[in-house]
Amino acid sequence: MGALDGQVVVFTGAGAGIGRAVVTRYASEGARVVAVDITDKVKELADELGGVVIPVVADVRSWEGNVQAVAAATEAWGRVDVFVGNAGITDAARPLEDIPGHQLKAGFDELFGVNVLAPLLGVRAALDELIRSRGSVILTGSFAGANAAGGGVLYTASKHAVQGLVRQLAYELAPDVRVNGVAPGVAPTRLKGTTALGQAATDSVLDGTREALPLQEIPTVDAYSGIFTLLASRSEAAVMTGTMVSADSGLSVRGIARPGGRVGRTDAGASSGESR
Ligand SMILES: NC(=O)c1ccc[n+]([C@@H]2O[C@H](COP(=O)([O-])OP(=O)(O)OC[C@H]3O[C@@H](n4cnc5c(N)ncnc54)[C@H](O)[C@@H]3O)[C@@H](O)[C@H]2O)c1
Repeated sequence: MGALDGQVVVFTGAGAGIGRAVVTRYASEGARVVAVDITDKVKELADELGGVVIPVVADVRSWEGNVQAVAAATEAWGRVDVFVGNAGITDAARPLEDIPGHQLKAGFDELFGVNVLAPLLGVRAALDELIRSRGSVILTGSFAGANAAGGGVLYTASKHAVQGLVRQLAYELAPDVRVNGVAPGVAPTRLKGTTALGQAATDSVLDGTREALPLQEIPTVDAYSGIFTLLASRSEAAVMTGTMVSADSGLSVRGIARPGGRVGRTDAGASSGESR
């Protein structure tokens, strides 16, 4: 028996990275998933996972794309239990000073369109179904949702806004719909940049990232899937709403001299090659 048996999920940003890993886990836990992405990689994912995944290729910044995704779920399976707003893009950590003033609005609109407006559109499109099923919402935040230097000014502001969405929607939708988030620190993906600022996709893991993490390991994309599963579970997360679960490998508690108190000690797990 899976943790998500019988649940129907609409999941955005499912074509790659963290989203693809979580959808794979959700399917193994018994969920049926409408996998939404702007790229057609969700078709591959559906082929891999069989009849429990329906791919929808859509831009989540559009109302119509979100309506199409919810309709795919209700037409096939008659309900929506969970909406996961995970699609995101980055500003490749570009400082304000390096963004030409005349490009700022277009960059802002594009990045906030994907990271902030899209989850709102998705929740709005799924709302009647979520209330009917007494379901839940999960939004992907970031270390940058509560700290500086996890992105540039646009990305950081957008992920702070995601924190706000989680809190406000948890309030507005109680007691019928739980609303939570997951805030990853780092994962080995290639997040797309903004077209408006001429940015290509960039590696999320930079030189020196591993050494900066108190836990001293770059997590796999799959490392986050247990937390997404927990939050979607009706029984295990029944008392959680309005929570952004931080999963940042210790970044938000790192010190100045050493990233973690036992880092560098010869008997520490990471230095001696022992697995945790
Ligand atoms: N990788 C990290 O280090 C990291 C850290 C913190 C938070 N995050 C967050 O995790 C989430 C997933 O990112 P990832 O790292 O797996 O990157 P990713 O690029 O591998 O996955 C994001 C997916 O979203 C899709 N997408 C982008 N714009 C879209 C749009 N307009 N419509 C539909 N789909 C769209 C992309 O095509 C891609 O498949 C994002 O919200 C990101 O901000 C990532």
